[in-house]
Amino acid sequence: MAFVVKKTINGNDYYYLNENKRIDGKIKTKSLAYLGKTKKEADKKAKEIIKEMEKNKEQNLIEKETIIKKEKEKEEVKMDSKKITIEELANFCKAKGFVFRSSDIYGGITGFWDLGPLGVELFNNIKKEWWNFFVREKENMVGLDASIISHPKTWKASGHIANFSDVAVINKKTKQAMKIDKSEVEIFKKENPDWEIQGEFSLMFKTKVGALNAEDAYLRGETAQGMFLDFKLIQQTSRMQLPFGIAQIGTCFRNEIAPRDFLFRSREFHIGEFEFFINPEEKTCDLLDSIHLEVEFNFLDEETQKQGSSTLKKVKMKELIARKKLEEWHAYWLAEQILWLKKMNLTEIKIREHTKEELSHYSSATFDLDYEYPFGSKELGGNANRGQYDLTQHQNESKQSMEIFDEKYKNKIIPKVIEPTIGIERIFLAILTKAYNYNKERDNVILKIPRFLSPIKAAIFPIVKKEEFEKISLEIYNDLKKEWFVTYDKSGSIGRRYARNDEIGTPFCITIDEDSLKNKDVTIRDRDTTSQIRVKISELKETLKKLINEEISFEKAGKLVK
Ligand code: GAP
Repeated sequence: MAFVVKKTINGNDYYYLNENKRIDGKIKTKSLAYLGKTKKEADKKAKEIIKEMEKNKEQNLIEKETIIKKEKEKEEVKMDSKKITIEELANFCKAKGFVFRSSDIYGGITGFWDLGPLGVELFNNIKKEWWNFFVREKENMVGLDASIISHPKTWKASGHIANFSDVAVINKKTKQAMKIDKSEVEIFKKENPDWEIQGEFSLMFKTKVGALNAEDAYLRGETAQGMFLDFKLIQQTSRMQLPFGIAQIGTCFRNEIAPRDFLFRSREFHIGEFEFFINPEEKTCDLLDSIHLEVEFNFLDEETQKQGSSTLKKVKMKELIARKKLEEWHAYWLAEQILWLKKMNLTEIKIREHTKEELSHYSSATFDLDYEYPFGSKELGGNANRGQYDLTQHQNESKQSMEIFDEKYKNKIIPKVIEPTIGIERIFLAILTKAYNYNKERDNVILKIPRFLSPIKAAIFPIVKKEEFEKISLEIYNDLKKEWFVTYDKSGSIGRRYARNDEIGTPFCITIDEDSLKNKDVTIRDRDTTSQIRVKISELKETLKKLINEEISFEKAGKLVK
């Protein structure tokens, strides 16, 4: 505590503000301020200084408390989110009905997977979100669902028969097989004397079409070619003007040398991609706004990789445009992809520029979108500048003109193409990896899938197995199931029913109890916080809609149950 002291020097009085402090077990006096020569002046000044000191003390205390709270929260998050390995995730997905090995009763078949009842719901929700974001909500995009097998000349023209291959390598001791990129062979040989190069293997799946005079054909390795083949038909029938895009989500097949990491590298998978056609003269993108320019992300450029480093730099899209790393339309679509991933709650991403040596045969500039998986930072999707390559190749092979007349520039041209692509299984895997949380306090797994992606949106429980509760519960269930995938569960204790639903990511549990009979309301319980609110049955559907679409906070959606 501070106090006023008087010192008399050469007959003159001087007033000071002092403070006693215990330092190393001893009381020491420290002078804080000079207060003047009169008692009145000193008391006034001391009062002001002490008041200011109290204020600062309070502020410091608040700051200290905030820091402690934040540290505690961080600690709790750490405790909650146990990092799951890919093997554990595969086991979890099997146990809960998300993903099974294909033909499990025969021991499975490497590189093929089945989506179970919960998996197919999550998968469809991801596809729907992608489609809505990139097709429905855009004015310059149309959809397509092309056949998986196309004329075999497609793959000759596209360069896939000649170029779409990987190099197989085998460990001399363990006999483990692995694929490497063709551009990596020389360096791999130098750095890995224990591995043997087995040669180049095509990734294309060959099949036969027809019974009599069967002809060779291929299962598609990418959906892109369907968009190139139908480009003119779509432009004419949909009356699209450049620039415009054609989008598709579809199954692809690749005869991978070494399928691995659960769904990450399989032989049958789904791509969501679009080809965006632009007049080569169009250098500016009128849709590129400040949101795109200011998008910030971790970036690994070609120069850094060539120095043997993987140090990331935080950059904004506008900086990459200024550095001429990509053109405006390319930047626009890359930014849109980042914004979509953010919407999917996948923020742990980095953008990696392809080095000249690793560019696909059709690309002049490619950027990978990588995600931090439990087995490392790996590719989720990409964004390539395919230029005029594919349309020109198909024009040459088919002898059909791929040129269109552009009203804006009044010229007949083959458009150039920007291609954003994403692996749907890889998104599925990233969402599950991020969502998986083991909560120590609740001693249970909480699958924190974003509500709008969750397979089951709500579980409806009568508090006990009695007719009056069951009747209302079933009425609610029958009404809600017209809108969403919801379940009705009357077996086991309420706690057990909550836990079962937390584990599979159901965001809301709805309970019909004694009060529901009187007040015609229910409780909704939030998966992540276990908070509960009461909502009138007549308002339940509307409230759930807002909650699922994250338009309202849980606490504000009803009367909080204390
Ligand atoms: N049309 C461009 C194209 O196909 P890609 O990088 O070869 O580009 C697109 O493949 C995406 O498909 C990848 O970014 C990845 O997410 C996914 N993908 C590729 N191979 C895969 C595999 N074997 N298993 C699962 N997903 C795969």
